[in-house]
Amino acid sequence: MVKVGILGLGTVGGSVAKILQKNKKIIEARSGKKIVVKAGVALEDKDFDFPVTKDPMDVINDPEIDIIVEVMGGIDFPYKLVKQALLNGKAVVTANKAMLAYHRYELQEIAGDIPLMYEASTAGGIPIIGALRNGLSANHIESIMGIMNGTSNFILTKMIQEGAAYEDVLKEAQELGYAEADPTFDVGGFDASHKLLILASIAFGIDAKPEDILIEGIEGIMQTDVEFAKDFEYVIKLLGVAKRVNGGVELRVHPVMIPQKSMIAKVDGVMNAVMVQGDCVGETLYYGAGAGGDATASAVIADIIDIVRGNTNPMLGYKKSLESGLKLLSKEEITSQYYLRLSVEDKKGVLAQITNLLSDLDISIEAMMQKPDSDQDEYVEILFITHKCKERSIQEAIAKLEQLSVVKNKIGMIRIEQ
Ligand code: NDP
Ligand code: HSE
Repeated sequence: MVKVGILGLGTVGGSVAKILQKNKKIIEARSGKKIVVKAGVALEDKDFDFPVTKDPMDVINDPEIDIIVEVMGGIDFPYKLVKQALLNGKAVVTANKAMLAYHRYELQEIAGDIPLMYEASTAGGIPIIGALRNGLSANHIESIMGIMNGTSNFILTKMIQEGAAYEDVLKEAQELGYAEADPTFDVGGFDASHKLLILASIAFGIDAKPEDILIEGIEGIMQTDVEFAKDFEYVIKLLGVAKRVNGGVELRVHPVMIPQKSMIAKVDGVMNAVMVQGDCVGETLYYGAGAGGDATASAVIADIIDIVRGNTNPMLGYKKSLESGLKLLSKEEITSQYYLRLSVEDKKGVLAQITNLLSDLDISIEAMMQKPDSDQDEYVEILFITHKCKERSIQEAIAKLEQLSVVKNKIGMIRIEQ
């Protein structure tokens, strides 16, 4: 018999306990052993058929417990707990991508040959970590691109398809257990960045932290952007992108307009999809529920079963530095096409002023549209799509445009990925 201790009995931990009981026969058949929850941890009283304590150390120091499941959330506190569990010789399964985004390399070092598994940390129920660590391990990875946050995809889908208000859909995502304890992690792009960094470590051996990469969320997206995207046959999605470019790796999370006909554009609601390009295998695509208790518990329990079967793969899929030549490219080096939304005074010469400024920075325009500003009569909205240019140039252009007296408010910008 294998005994499990669960740190955190909320959305994910509660589902792990429930499914270990509900599917116990198939789980025993697949793992070869009976798996039971010996104890759990929560702050409030809970009704489970195992003891629940408020102190995680009671569970971590319990000599009868073989596997610790960390599904509490947070960064430094769970790191200390996971570290102690590993030092106590216990295998660990975690769904906590925020902790891994900051501490994965230290934890790999501490874990050594003790299993530390984290399939549920990235894209919920989709086995993308297993695919990268195992199934694609013969490949040089060229790129990883995908929808990695269920909450923001759920919000964008409802805004685009139903014209729903941002705040209402966010509330619904919270009620469904999709959102992080602090939902700014979801809508601000930080949660997706945590997942992207985990994937980039396995694929490229890149040891970057969230602060090192470009992260933008969906908070600034307006109905005008959604309508413009529709008119030009694009869909707006929050994407995580890791791309090998010129001997380096580009890592970024931000909203993008992608063509309606692309596969990722069709991934709606809480679903996630991750596209991985390998040099031998070519393009592969992984799709499934990106958040929610049961879908995430599916991945947590798969890791538990893997450990019980005796899997001792290295945490990141390799023991030593992977491809030391690969550097993280600076944000300014990124090249893209850009969509710009400007609200400007409706008077003669304004458009020329704007296009001259863009031209001076070597930014050329591919398409343009003008719409009345719904808020104020004397203003119009001008929407542009640029040809490809450097991030540095577009940032300079936005800063200069925002200084023009004819430009009202902040300029909206969304990158375009073909
Ligand atoms: P919840 O907030 O629903 O659950 C957290 C649990 O941890 C609760 O039971 C809470 O106790 C307990 N807890 C929190 N802090 C402490 C503490 N200091 N001491 C003791 N217990 C504590 O979170 P989720 O289940 O949604 O998420 C858990 C982890 O899984 C997070 O790292 C999250 O990022 C990750 N994750 C979540 C997914 C999802 O869809 N929800 C998907 C993939 C990963 P109490 O119940 O008393 O409040
Ligand atoms: N809050 C996360 C999301 C949970 O919405 O994707 C899954 O990691």
